[in-house]
Amino acid sequence: MNPTFLIAKKRDGGELADGEIADLVRGFVAGEVADYQMSAFAMAVCCRGMTVAETASLTRHMLHSGVTLDWPGSLQPEVDKHSTGGIGDKVSLPLAAMLACCDLRVPMISGRGLGATGGTLDKLESIAGFRTDLSLDEMREVVDRVGCVINGATAELVPADRRLYALRDVTATVESIPLITASIMSKKLAEGLDALVLDVKHGSGAFMKTLWDAQELARSLVDTGKQMGVATVALVTDMNQPLGCMAGNAVEVDESVASLEGNGPADLMDVTLALGAELLVMTGKAADLAAATTTLQSTIDDGSALAKFREMVVAQGGDLDAPRPVAPPQEVVSPSEGYVTAIDTQMLGRAIIELGGGRRQQGDVLDLSVGLEMLVRLGDRIEVGQPLAHLFARADQAPQAMEMVTAAIQLGRQAAAAPRLIVERVE
Ligand code: URA
Repeated sequence: MNPTFLIAKKRDGGELADGEIADLVRGFVAGEVADYQMSAFAMAVCCRGMTVAETASLTRHMLHSGVTLDWPGSLQPEVDKHSTGGIGDKVSLPLAAMLACCDLRVPMISGRGLGATGGTLDKLESIAGFRTDLSLDEMREVVDRVGCVINGATAELVPADRRLYALRDVTATVESIPLITASIMSKKLAEGLDALVLDVKHGSGAFMKTLWDAQELARSLVDTGKQMGVATVALVTDMNQPLGCMAGNAVEVDESVASLEGNGPADLMDVTLALGAELLVMTGKAADLAAATTTLQSTIDDGSALAKFREMVVAQGGDLDAPRPVAPPQEVVSPSEGYVTAIDTQMLGRAIIELGGGRRQQGDVLDLSVGLEMLVRLGDRIEVGQPLAHLFARADQAPQAMEMVTAAIQLGRQAAAAPRLIVERVE
């Protein structure tokens, strides 16, 4: 294999064969393809794109660059959910437990905060003692015993993605639908799944800013999942305002527990139930989405999902009853009146980073006690002096973040229609 020929073939718009992609990925992981060559290849893909077959091939060879989980003898389907991320998106926490109560097994591998969006692992680490660094054997044991686990990726899983993502991050090659698809799907499919549901977000707080881009990514993810023999559905959902009220780390765990107690905000519950219902239908656990939603809701109503979440927390070394420090609330009030016409949701995420709740650079230690509670939503009428949000922060930390929150919430004279939460279903 000569990597230069393969880079040139893609640069000139050619379609790479499965064997060529296999050679490239194997050579990259073995150190025979240099980082600069793989970066050039990533740029060629950015400019020329990939066919569905090429994307599936890249996904497959990245997936097999490391070990994968398998579940010999498992009597129930393994399933998972992946979200492209957004502010206040805490769906994984209640959903993993709810699914495990429906005879599904959830070996969820999650990530840390990326850009302005929070990370599931960071949130869970606000629970005293909670371990997100289980070995693969420990993960398997928790899934067998409890039915769900939420853990970080281990070094043996998908090394090709870890190395390629680091190059893409610094060579302006993150924004490519085939590369994003292969990155996400190789990691998810390494969990050894029977079914996967994807939450592809669009809007001011999402990775994909436009609906069109989100739809394109959803299509690519679903096509790739199916090519790889895994039942896959995506929902395209709105991220033009935070999901639920809380954004941060400890405060999102609090809101997740409240959701499992039956007191979740309507938008968070709608998305959680809709995503979960897809998995119940794909695995034959429910006849249709309506029946699946009823089954999932019953896991909250009868307390079993909360008990399951508690069981998972204990299995991962955590104590849900230990106090989770939350910084004191500082009120952000409106300087003007009008209707909420737009929210710069990414700016809200940046305000949390400003408080220390997210990373400015790799390795930053987070303050898990800071965060934000949204008190208004798109379309609401606001009066001068009305509270818009609470910032959980020390008073001396808050002024700049307060300005960011005020600037992020745009008021206008005309009431705008609230956006549709679940915009499209892609199967
Ligand atoms: N998230 C991923 O895991 N990979 C990407 O390429 C982009 C977002």
